[in-house]
Amino acid sequence: YPSNSQVEDNSGLRKENCRAKGGAPGFKVAILGAAGGIGQPLALLMKINPLVSVLHLYDVVNTPGVTADIGHMDTGAVVRGFLGQAQLESALSGMDLVIIPAGVPRKPGMTRDDLFNINAGIVRTLCEGIARSCPRAIVNLISNPVNSTVPIAAEVFKKAGTYDPKRLLGVTTLDVVRANTFVAEVLGLDPREVNVPVVGGHSGVTILPLLSQVKPPSSFTQQEIEYLTDRIQNGGTEVVEAKAGAGSATLSMAYAAVKFADACLRGLRGDAGVVECAFVDSKVTELPFFASKVQLGRNGAEEVYQLGPLNEYERVGLEKAKKELAASIQKGISFVRK
Ligand code: NAI
Repeated sequence: YPSNSQVEDNSGLRKENCRAKGGAPGFKVAILGAAGGIGQPLALLMKINPLVSVLHLYDVVNTPGVTADIGHMDTGAVVRGFLGQAQLESALSGMDLVIIPAGVPRKPGMTRDDLFNINAGIVRTLCEGIARSCPRAIVNLISNPVNSTVPIAAEVFKKAGTYDPKRLLGVTTLDVVRANTFVAEVLGLDPREVNVPVVGGHSGVTILPLLSQVKPPSSFTQQEIEYLTDRIQNGGTEVVEAKAGAGSATLSMAYAAVKFADACLRGLRGDAGVVECAFVDSKVTELPFFASKVQLGRNGAEEVYQLGPLNEYERVGLEKAKKELAASIQKGISFVRK
């Protein structure tokens, strides 16, 4: 089991090894922003994940309540709550996987970029904590704008001398989940049978669904391609508008976050053939970060896959995506370097 899973003994708590109460081996997972709209259902779903032995819930508000509530569930993972900056270090010590949904969500009329100023600072502080307390942990970054927060995290880790590009993953799974759902609807299939690779980034035109590579192999009319691409790129806005000021996607996001975290944990366990799309340090294009399929293993994103053959529509989309992505990545890097 990973080096991070050693026994800790603090504050008179009983010693726990890296086994869940049921006796199954498991991993230690922290959620930062655990009391939020995404954080709460994410905590609930991770508490039922049999690969999790210890679950740390950190936020700047309300973690005692969420922890008491989740802690009553009769599943294996041991749950502990941490409140406020002073407890960040204890929340992170010894963690194998850190999931970050901390930050403010979009309101109608806002783009993900509008969130930059608040969320950039939050992500920087949390990543400084990770560099100090669990530099070997796999990090799943959900806070928007992901196209900029992942470069921010990378810069923080580089400064601290702990950067391992394989261990930093921007979560774009919700784009894949939406794409699978919308494509299945058009094809009249069960969404569980459909797999759509979504590459590029996680905002507007940077979200590039590769409909030519859908599994099972399918063909679409031009009208269907345009409808699907538009709906997948704007799925987040669909939810923001429907919630009318009450936030952005939280429930489908928690589902997507758990789907991705579970894949990371199966990779850490050594399972073969675990492949998901994620926004990572990349050589697939000339940009330093890009979302594409990655193979998850004991060290995180062990292999980043090429995009495969694109059709003309997708090649045009790729050029548009790269232009916007380049600016968002630079914005993130400059935030830390300035
Ligand atoms: P929310 O406002 O309901 O929850 C955010 C939580 O973060 C709150 O509990 C807040 O107290 C906490 N927080 C704020 N500052 C913090 C800090 N310094 N340390 C720890 N926790 C802190 O927001 P929601 O809806 O849960 O969204 C969270 C983030 O996820 C937003 O940035 C949103 O844009 C992003 N998001 C990302 C998606 C993706 O596909 N990657 C999809 C949907 C949302």
